[in-house]
Formats: sequence, C-alpha cells, structure tokens
Amino acid sequence: MWSGSRLVFPCRASASSLAFLLPCFTCSTQLSFKSFLTRTALSPTAFTFLRMASSSSSSVTDGNDIDPPPPSSSNDAASATAAGPPTASSAIDFLTLCHSLKTTKRAGWVGRDVQNPESIADHMYRMGLMALITSDIPGIDRDKCVKMAIVHDIAEAIVGDITPSDGISKDEKSRREREALDHMCKLLGGGSRAKEIAELWMEYEENSSSEAKIVKDFDKVEMILQALEYENEQGVDLDEFFQSTSGKFQTDAGKAWASEIASRRRKR
Ligand SMILES: *[C@@H]1O[C@H](CO)[C@@H](O)[C@H](O)[C@H]1NC(C)=O
Repeated sequence: MWSGSRLVFPCRASASSLAFLLPCFTCSTQLSFKSFLTRTALSPTAFTFLRMASSSSSSVTDGNDIDPPPPSSSNDAASATAAGPPTASSAIDFLTLCHSLKTTKRAGWVGRDVQNPESIADHMYRMGLMALITSDIPGIDRDKCVKMAIVHDIAEAIVGDITPSDGISKDEKSRREREALDHMCKLLGGGSRAKEIAELWMEYEENSSSEAKIVKDFDKVEMILQALEYENEQGVDLDEFFQSTSGKFQTDAGKAWASEIASRRRKR
C-alpha cells in the first residue's frame, strides 16, 4: 500500500545518508536500515532489533509493479527534512494507522463481562495524565514519562492487544511488536521523531531506564483503577487484576497510588 518505486534507485545508489533522507518504507529494506544505523545513535539493543527487523520485513523492497508517481514538492520536502519531523503525508499515514488504538478494545476486559470496554488509546491517555501529575522524582524525566506512556502500547495498532490467553509466547509477542514498531517508524519517515518513538518504546519494552520502571507502575495502576471503576459501575468481579498486580509495584509513586486504589476498593 505504501510501497513505491520512485525512490528505490536513489536508495540503492547510496547505502549511506541519502537513503535515510527518504521515506524508509519505499527503500530497499537492507539499505535503509544500514543508513538508519549509521546516522543514529541507537542503543545496542535497538541496533539488534533493527537488524532483526531488517531481515524479517522484506515485503516492500522492490515495488516494480507500481507506477512511480510524479515528483512533487512534498517529496522534495521529504528529502530535505526526513532527518527531522515527518512530512505531512507521513504524519497522516502514521496517525491513520494509530486510529486503531482508539478502536481496539483492551483485551483484558473483553470476555470478562465488561460492557463497552476502553480502548488501548484510552488506557495510554490516562497513563500520560499520571505521568503529568506525579511528583518530581530526582533523576526522573517526567516529560519523558508522559511521552513513554503515550507510545508504550503503540505497536498494538498493528498486532492488537496480545494477552497470555492468546497462546502466543512472550518472545513471539515481542517479535511481532518490534516488527510492527519498525513498520510504524518507517511509515513516519524514519527521522528524529520516529527514532524518539522507537527509543521510548524499546526502553519501556526492556525495562531499561528509571522512566520505564515508573511507567510500568503507571500501566498497572491505570489498569487496577479501571478495574475498580468497572466493578463499581457494572457490578463485575475483577479481583484477578488486583491479585495479579499485588506486590509488583516498583516505585514509591506506584505503590502509593496502588494502595490508595486498594483501600478505596475495600471501603466499598
Ligand atoms: C524492571 O527492572 C527492575 C530492576 O531494575 C526489576 O525489579 C523489575 O522487576 C523489572 N520489571 C519488569 C516488568 O521486568
């Protein structure tokens, strides 16, 4: 759908920075990744992930059967700015894909008699608010937490909300999500914004920063608060969500909020 041949030749002609300046999803996967790696300072794990992704996603490498669209000023703009923010076209492609975050219901509630369960986007939005209102913690970049909260489940726009009951292994879930994230970053043009999203997502996935640890707490706090709200509104029993998160909070903020929610639940 977003494949096109117009940029293949420039990409192949240059394995270094030029390919990176063009929307990656139109390029030879191999080359676009090579240049992505040369031009950016990703963590070693992100390197691995991107290398893995480059060998597995080869669906858009030739585009020979597609007529090249005429060159336009927006393509020129893409060439000039892909290292930075996405072009309007890339941005709208990306945001259109993200629409499914608003329409995909969180799997944990589906099948547990919850009516009109929230979406993935609903969940990430309130996590963003949590990061916004939490106290300053030395060594924690709160703005980064807000950003991490609103992207941490973004790969679910493509793979959906995979839960243990789906019978998909943790490794396979992670592989699918990394591939999806890679696709979304390419859709976004592979520039600085795509790189920021990829890094935030990887940090969260790998639990590799202080911000990731607190956002993981927000993930669980948001879930039990939502569980309590469904219990109150709909008379369902969602005790398993409280059980499964009990004792798993890593930060003081997470512990305090989880304990407040548990105490409100006991007082009902
Ligand atoms: C994240 O890392 C911390 C140690 O830094 C560990 O205590 C915690 O269990 C980890 N969380 C997850 C979800 O892996």
